[in-house]
Amino acid sequence: QQRQQEGNDVLSLAVEEEQPSLLKRIPMSAYGTWVSEVMLQQTRVETVIDYYVKWMTLFPTPNDLAAASLEQVNKAWAGLGYYRRAKMLHEGAKKVVSDHSGCLPGTAKELKDLPGIGPYTAGAVASIAFGECEPLVDGNVIRVLARLRAIASDPKNAGLNKLCWDLAGSIVDPGRPGDFNQALMELGATVCTVKNPSCSACPVRTSCFAKKLTSAGSKGPKHAV
Ligand code: ADE
Repeated sequence: QQRQQEGNDVLSLAVEEEQPSLLKRIPMSAYGTWVSEVMLQQTRVETVIDYYVKWMTLFPTPNDLAAASLEQVNKAWAGLGYYRRAKMLHEGAKKVVSDHSGCLPGTAKELKDLPGIGPYTAGAVASIAFGECEPLVDGNVIRVLARLRAIASDPKNAGLNKLCWDLAGSIVDPGRPGDFNQALMELGATVCTVKNPSCSACPVRTSCFAKKLTSAGSKGPKHAV
């Protein structure tokens, strides 16, 4: 059956702004969210848009992707790099067809059972496409949360990672989990940047402990992460 899709992701908004006619032809599906999130893992939005549109034209559903050969899949991916991502999407689509009648399952727990879907992608698809109240954590989210709580730690530290998953899970908005998660990533990508963050433009600056520390003239680290 066709599942109800909810939400919009940054990619569909980007396509809407730059290529409105293409967006009309490619409505966002849970599968589309999955494809876009995998593409965005190592590649910038501007580059991903053309690949995404081409991919969704060639393989509009998990059934189409599962029926394609690995050669066809690799050809559509050519230029994006990290070909393992394409292979795992292909494997995942085959499993969606064999175990879920061609429809992505709607919970992070089930999504994590698919090949190539880890906690980040499961959280992204579950929250953005299905409105499930699930957190997600990527590098940008780690930086935002560590600064909000003034946790001075190596961003790659496993303890910090676990802490951020717990923290993200405790603050994700159950009313709009997909929007909340995307806003957190976007905040990290555009405002709470690694270098020279735009604290004066930050919507959560008054509750940021890293900001409080620096404003008070602390001798501590300028920014927590
Ligand atoms: N980075 C990767 N996926 C994203 C999304 N859906 N929204 C904002 N930033 C992202």
